[in-house]
Amino acid sequence: MHKSSTLAVPEHAGVPRHLAIIMDGNGRWATQRFLPRSAGHARGVQAVRRVVEACGRRGVRYLTLFAFSSENWRRPQEEVTLLMRLFVQTLQKEVDKLNEQGVRLRVVGDTSAFDSGLQDLIRKAEERTAQNDTLHLTIAANYGGRWDILQAMQRMLTEHPELCADPKGIDETALTPYLTMSFAPEPDLFIRTGGEQRISNFLIWQLAYTELYFTERYWPDISVRDIDAAFEWYRTRERRFGRTSAQLAGGD
Ligand code: FPP
Repeated sequence: MHKSSTLAVPEHAGVPRHLAIIMDGNGRWATQRFLPRSAGHARGVQAVRRVVEACGRRGVRYLTLFAFSSENWRRPQEEVTLLMRLFVQTLQKEVDKLNEQGVRLRVVGDTSAFDSGLQDLIRKAEERTAQNDTLHLTIAANYGGRWDILQAMQRMLTEHPELCADPKGIDETALTPYLTMSFAPEPDLFIRTGGEQRISNFLIWQLAYTELYFTERYWPDISVRDIDAAFEWYRTRERRFGRTSAQLAGGD
């Protein structure tokens, strides 16, 4: 039988245990107001703060935010530099507060591409909050879902070279411990703001059974009420994970 790494149907709690978000629309928010794109990103940071606090209060255990994709390097150099600076400033400014709130911060992605100062800040922030368990906040930075699967495969085969001689012996449960999000359950709910309906190489492995919610709202405009509306919608979903409704009703 095909062995899947998605084993259990989780309790359908009122709030998602794991919420993953693509924060899109910062640039358009700014352009609409005749402001530079940087103003949109700065307002985007305020929205991050609002959403982190709201998720903490509502009992979300894992919140994963797509801050910078592997493809975002293709943006004008000026904007890339600005995003990096914003990232550093936010880490410096927010880490004390996050720590007080019991937030555990992680950054996933190929951070080796960042300058050493930023890598150092990331490491320190992760170490500083490593004992916290209230909300696991993960920032995906220079992250791509395909990169994640490839690096998992490479690390698995490096640790278990014997698998090269027996590729059929590789199943999902062998690979998943090597994915960067292996510490978290798969996302229950995904939200993308800004009107596009795409996954854009975000957690492509982990989103296989996730409920997908799209809103036209630009990220800087996202309010706590918008998050509640997404949770309300999530509560109406029946998650079957390939089973039938009857099986779920019978608890099989
Ligand atoms: C997408 O909007 C947003 C980004 C590429 C950057 C997201 C970054 C932040 C919200 C701020 C930094 C975050 C942290 C966690 C410190 P876009 O620029 O693609 O908008 P557009 O599609 O309207 O152009």
